[in-house]
Amino acid sequence: MSTMSFLISILVLISLTIWKSIYVHATFFRDTHCVDGGENCKILSDGLSLTLNQMSGALVHGNKEFLFGYVEMQIKLPPGNTPGVVTTFYMTSPFVLGTPNSHDEIDFEFLGNVSGQPITIHTNVFVLGNGSREQQFKPWFDPSADFHSYGIFWSPYVIMWSVDGTVIRVFRNWESKGLPFANKQPMRILCSIWNGDYWATENGQVKINWANAPFTSRYTNYRADVCVISKGGNDVERCTVPNRNNWFVEPAYGKLSADQIEDLMRVQRCHKKRDPQI
Ligand SMILES: *[C@@H]1O[C@H](CO)[C@@H](O)[C@H](O)[C@H]1NC(C)=O
Ligand SMILES: *[C@@H]1O[C@H](CO)[C@@H](O)[C@H](O)[C@H]1NC(C)=O
Repeated sequence: MSTMSFLISILVLISLTIWKSIYVHATFFRDTHCVDGGENCKILSDGLSLTLNQMSGALVHGNKEFLFGYVEMQIKLPPGNTPGVVTTFYMTSPFVLGTPNSHDEIDFEFLGNVSGQPITIHTNVFVLGNGSREQQFKPWFDPSADFHSYGIFWSPYVIMWSVDGTVIRVFRNWESKGLPFANKQPMRILCSIWNGDYWATENGQVKINWANAPFTSRYTNYRADVCVISKGGNDVERCTVPNRNNWFVEPAYGKLSADQIEDLMRVQRCHKKRDPQI
């Protein structure tokens, strides 16, 4: 597909300015819990502090599962020499033991780098366990110098990643053309920091330098407006019918403005890395 026809095809998109007025304030304190990491996993009144040292990384789960909506948080990565340190904000459906190739997932991952070299923003979508849809970006700012906001919009029709309000990637539902899409399984939010030095930097050639540990990523301003599912349920139907709660299926959210399309094109042209590392 040419860039132009790709862009025309994404006219089914969202206005970030509208999302902003609609989402509700979630809190890490109320809406998430630590799953792994012991002392390295800290849920604070206004955020998370996740640390990686030689003992452990840290993992946080959102308390509820949902289908579709918009989730955003601000993240500040550990500074300095951080090759192999991977910080994440993603959503995934449960892994069911004994059923490989069954989970869906939408990712933001941040791959640390040696001092002075840019951190990579890694995005991906898994559908039924297949995640060969990576796109990686070289940010236009230093994600360890300050908090920046990272958003995922997920509807039955499209997935979009945004950074500080700029849409950087659009993944459309092409089920009509026989391609699979993640719209049948509820997901929950996960945040983590872990040792990814077997793959994250130069295909695993650059290892974590533990002399620089501990590595701490901070998260704040968690916001979410999603269709929460009943415990143990699925509710695809309920979360897809157009109504006030299911704002994300409205066509009004299905359009990117000309400016947003221009920004998306610029990011795709100037900040996308050619060859994802994995
Ligand atoms: C680290 O920086 C080098 C040089 O700019 C770049 O080629 C590489 O992709 C970066 N690696 C990661 C994991 O960001
Ligand atoms: C995984 O998804 C990619 C992208 O749609 C596709 O090209 C590839 O064939 C899929 N792999 C398998 C094993 O289904």
